[in-house]
Amino acid sequence: MKMVSPSLLSADFGNLQHDIEMLNNSQCDWLHVDVMDGIFVPNISFGQPIVRHIKKHARKPLDVHLMIMDPGRYIADFKEAGADILTVHYEACTHLDRTLNAIRDAGMKCGVVLNPHTPVALLEDTVQLCDVVLLMSVNPGFGGQKFIENTYSKVQTLRALCDRKNPHCLIEVDGGVNTGNAGRLYKAGADVLVAGNAVFKSENPQQTIIDLKTSE
Ligand code: DX5
Ligand code: ZN
Repeated sequence: MKMVSPSLLSADFGNLQHDIEMLNNSQCDWLHVDVMDGIFVPNISFGQPIVRHIKKHARKPLDVHLMIMDPGRYIADFKEAGADILTVHYEACTHLDRTLNAIRDAGMKCGVVLNPHTPVALLEDTVQLCDVVLLMSVNPGFGGQKFIENTYSKVQTLRALCDRKNPHCLIEVDGGVNTGNAGRLYKAGADVLVAGNAVFKSENPQQTIIDLKTSE
């Protein structure tokens, strides 16, 4: 599958509705929503009230990426705010199995995110619970960072693990994705590419989304 999930972190927060309408009328598949707590990552972005406003205008599923410690505490809040897919960091969860099941039980799709330093092999006992696994291709916290090349081989390793344990699991990649590396990521086995700067700093964001989706 070749899907694109533009990251609203790079959108115009003074006019979010405008940018969401643009995405509603684009070929994108999901809207990527980055929640940061200033502890798990060095940056603070926004929380449930903003997600609720995004939901009011969005006509595509909200792919909510929680970069917060102990995300299990906020599952009901993000469900209520309108998350459709909720992903939590491996590094931020003491009881990952419990957290993934709780997300599923709350009626959302669930997923695990791995930081660049976290090996795919650590998902051996949780990948079967996941609808999606998100591989960070930058150290999380900021948009506009440089893509880490080691990600290609991690995608391949994860593809092999999913083929063995959960063929329906989607592989998502987040950070420094652009039209120069998208094709190689899809070829390695990625299904969903997150793109912040590549979309929102483009002169024609809707065309860039098409270019990302058709990259070979
Ligand atoms: C980074 C966030 C990303 C970010 C991607 O911590 O998780 O979703 O917005 O932005 P780009 O595509 O600009 O690297
Ligand atoms: Zn993200």
